[in-house]
Amino acid sequence: MKKIYVIGSANTDMVVKTEFLPGPGETVLGGTFFMNAGGKGANQAVAAARLGGDVVFVGRVGDDIFGKQTIEGLQKEKIDTRFVSEDRENPSGTALITVNAEGENCIVVAPGANSKLNAAHLPDLREAEIILMQLEIPIETIEAAAAKAKEHQQRVIINPAPAQPLSDVLLKDLFLITPNETEADHLTGVSVNDKLTARKAAEVLLRKGVQHVIITMGKQGAYYKSEDKELMIDAPVVEVLDTTAAGDTFSGAIAVALTEDKSWEDAIRFAIRAASISVTRLGAQASVPYRNEIG
Ligand code: RIB
Repeated sequence: MKKIYVIGSANTDMVVKTEFLPGPGETVLGGTFFMNAGGKGANQAVAAARLGGDVVFVGRVGDDIFGKQTIEGLQKEKIDTRFVSEDRENPSGTALITVNAEGENCIVVAPGANSKLNAAHLPDLREAEIILMQLEIPIETIEAAAAKAKEHQQRVIINPAPAQPLSDVLLKDLFLITPNETEADHLTGVSVNDKLTARKAAEVLLRKGVQHVIITMGKQGAYYKSEDKELMIDAPVVEVLDTTAAGDTFSGAIAVALTEDKSWEDAIRFAIRAASISVTRLGAQASVPYRNEIG
C-alpha cells in the first residue's frame, strides 16, 4: 500500500467551550474543561489513517505522561510510530484552546519537544508516496525533509499552519499547498474572501513553482488551481460546534485521496465531506471521522 509520511507536531489539547472568546485582560466563564489528543501533525496523521491511509508519523514527544499517551493513541489508530522520538529535556507539546459559540477557536501552543524535532531525527523517506507537513515544527526540519523528498521525486504537501513565511526554495518544489484564507493572505499578501481573490493568491503561489494550490475557505468550501485547471467546490451546510482540526482533517483526507489516484475534484469533495463532519463535533482528534462515515 502507498505510504503517507506525516512529519509534524503532536500536542495534548486542553479545551474549554465558552460563549465568546475573551479579549486581553478579560475573564470569561466557560463550559466543562476537557483534554484530547491534538497537534496539527498528529491530527493529520489520524485523519489520514481513519480515512483509509497507510500512515507513518514522524514527531517528537517529551518523556512524560502526555508523550506516552500520544504514542499509544497513534498506535491505536494503526499508525507506525517507529520514528516518534522521545526528548528527555523538553515536555510534550500542549495547546490551550478556547472555542466560542460559533465554533471558532483561539489556540496557544506550547511546542515543547515538537520544537526540537530536527533533521537528524528524520528517517529515510524513500518508501513515502506522499510527505505531509505543517508548520508547528522547525522550518529547517521541513526544508530538510523537502530536500530529501526532491532527491526521490516524492510528492510533498504542506499545510502552512500556523502561518509563517516560506522560502522560495521550499515553495519551488512543492506538489501541493493547502492554506486557509488567512494563511493564503500571509503567504501572498492577497486578502482572500471569494473565488476571485483566491485565484489571485493561488497564482502568486503557482508562479513560485508550487504545482497545485487548494485554499480552504470554511463555509464557502475550497478553491483549487493548477497551471491548467481551476475548481471551486462548495461545502455542505452543517451545524458547526467546533472548527478545531477541520483543516487538519481536510489535509489528511487529501493525502489519502491522492494515494488512491482520485481526480482533484473527487479528492476535494472527499476532503470537504470529512472536514464538514469534523466541525460538527468537539475536539481535535476526537472529531475526526472514519472512512465509513463519508458517504
Ligand atoms: O489544528 C488544530 C491543532 O492546532 C490543535 O489540535 C492544537 O494542538 C494545535 O496544534
